Amino acid sequence: MDQGGAAMRIAVLKERAAGETRVSATPETVKKFIALGAVVAVEAGAGEAASIADVDYAAAGAEVTANPATGADIVLGVQGPDPAALAGVNPGAWVVAGLDPFGQRARVDGYAAAGLEALAMEFMPRITRAQSMDILSSQSNLSGYKAVIEAANVYGRAFPMMMTAAGTVSAAKAFIMGVGVAGLQAIATARRLGAQVSATDVRSATREQIQSLGAKPIFVESVAGIEGEGAGGYATEMSEEYQKAQAELVSSHIAKQDIVITTALIPGRAAPRLITDAQIATMKPGSVIFDLAAPAGGNVEGSKPDEVVVKHGVKIIGYANTPAKLPADASALFSRNLYNFLSAFWDKEAGRPVLDEEIGNAIRLTHGGKVVNERLLG
Ligand code: NAI
Repeated sequence: MDQGGAAMRIAVLKERAAGETRVSATPETVKKFIALGAVVAVEAGAGEAASIADVDYAAAGAEVTANPATGADIVLGVQGPDPAALAGVNPGAWVVAGLDPFGQRARVDGYAAAGLEALAMEFMPRITRAQSMDILSSQSNLSGYKAVIEAANVYGRAFPMMMTAAGTVSAAKAFIMGVGVAGLQAIATARRLGAQVSATDVRSATREQIQSLGAKPIFVESVAGIEGEGAGGYATEMSEEYQKAQAELVSSHIAKQDIVITTALIPGRAAPRLITDAQIATMKPGSVIFDLAAPAGGNVEGSKPDEVVVKHGVKIIGYANTPAKLPADASALFSRNLYNFLSAFWDKEAGRPVLDEEIGNAIRLTHGGKVVNERLLG
């Protein structure tokens, strides 16, 4: 990063990944970065898919250009840019984005080789002061909502109970598996639509959260002494005994459900398998499963990102990139996460952000030509 006293130059790139509709800054965050003393260069067309026009960025004070990376000190992205696209940046420039460090290891090596400082926003520690910087939370919340809306759209019946002159339509039964940020929003959304909702998780702390949203908790009671919660509030991989008990419980419950939303993830590993083909076979034809973990290998046997798979008359759906289906809101929240992060560390005298150890060490992937993050070295 240039430390010569010139204003920080922040580049906002147009996303290049297939199906990516989001953008890493909005006119609101551009204005705020400028208020901090930065110069912001936005790539022409960067906001188009999120319904933000170049003129809106320009009105907020950004330079709209074909080559935003040229001379940049900080490059913002939703997903990590190709290192080759960053040729003109200043030495040691920061790349701040959702870098998918485990899935895109070669790209991380590319940032190291280019002498860049890559900061992976999904490695943000789960501590109170970093909540407003957490892209996983902001995007998962929208994903949980969208999963239910999409399942309702594909389902051939209604969600709420309706009493009509022609007879009664019964309420849909929805089961949410995995009650993190996405699962909690899925419960709330399914309840708002009028479904009868139940939910499960391996973390016993979620039981009360499920109840407080008016849904029924479905938990393994027979295996004692299992907390299910590991570092940073994330789930741990469960024992074989637990997995067996969970499978039995789920099998009997799932057969009665119309809608199932699965959200279970374990950081750095393939998503846990929660529903097998044999279990799908017990469900009623016309039921719908939305697998939010489809891009991480899937919670549901046979699910494929961006495809509707029909098995035993059950529709199994899932998107490769669910937040990208709500580009305007997803971009607004993602952009604020990036702004909240950089502004929290903005050193007014230096005119640039200076990270502290706790957050810096957690999210920094590369520095001084090397990969330095312990989660990638281990
Ligand atoms: P996640 O996306 O990693 O996983 C989704 C859910 O699936 C989790 O609740 C997890 O326990 C569950 N799961 C994993 N394996 C499962 C299995 N085999 N069967 C059933 N469920 C399974 O989790 P997410 O949404 O990121 O949140 C995890 C926790 O972290 C929550 O308690 C959340 O409130 C907390 N959190 C704290 C933040 C902060 O303090 N800055 C920010 C974001 C989340």
